[in-house]
Amino acid sequence: MDELREIYLENIDSTNLWAKNNLDTLEDKTVVFAGAQTQGRGRLQRNWVDLGRGNLFMSLVLKPAQNFDEHYSNLTQYMSVSLCKVLENYGLNPEIKWPNDVLINGKKIAGILSEASVRGTLFKGLVLGIGVNLNAKEEDFAQIDKKVTALNLELGREIKLDEFKTALVNEFFKNYETFLSQGFELIKKDYLNRANFLDKEVCVSLINETKKGVAKGVTDNGELILCNGELEFILNIGDIL
Ligand code: BTN
Repeated sequence: MDELREIYLENIDSTNLWAKNNLDTLEDKTVVFAGAQTQGRGRLQRNWVDLGRGNLFMSLVLKPAQNFDEHYSNLTQYMSVSLCKVLENYGLNPEIKWPNDVLINGKKIAGILSEASVRGTLFKGLVLGIGVNLNAKEEDFAQIDKKVTALNLELGREIKLDEFKTALVNEFFKNYETFLSQGFELIKKDYLNRANFLDKEVCVSLINETKKGVAKGVTDNGELILCNGELEFILNIGDIL
């Protein structure tokens, strides 16, 4: 693997925002991470709560090509599989909730947010952000309105942030180039093996509405196949609630 560039920010509003604002001068495969994040951004206009030092706040700057390729939309799912593999090496059984939430025992341990930067018709690159709860205190979860967990609480010991970050970055870049050429099909089996939503009645939150149905599977492009009576929906945006 090529040498990766790393930038550490002691305290920042959001690593994703910082990377997007500095995208022109940042090289492909730069790893931006922060000690603390005051305005972490989440999916669907949500925020990402900083649970203190020792947790992972990281954004990968990716400039794979001059033009946007449809496979880039699946990078969050590729990251969710990479993260699961790392967590499995810690002895856990993570699950994926479509499209890219990673859960341990039904509780969210990480969030992934990809933001594309486009100027006019020009594609500038992607910022793939990930936050992983590594060292948190149960009482800090009171600020979060969903079931969440952290690796230290699952394992009953403190987690070395640097060790975890290196393992995740290495796992991500191991098959990254192959993923760029093959897309979701490369990881479909790995993704489905960890999926916790198959054949279940789910509720999907879309931008302005929610859709209910049975999650029948995912397409070769990573879209959710949702069945409601006779109707079948193929969703490429949203979150299973
Ligand atoms: C979500 O589950 O809603 C996605 C959360 C993504 C959070 C990470 S933390 C590092 C990076 N910087 C941000 O502002 N957001 C992402």
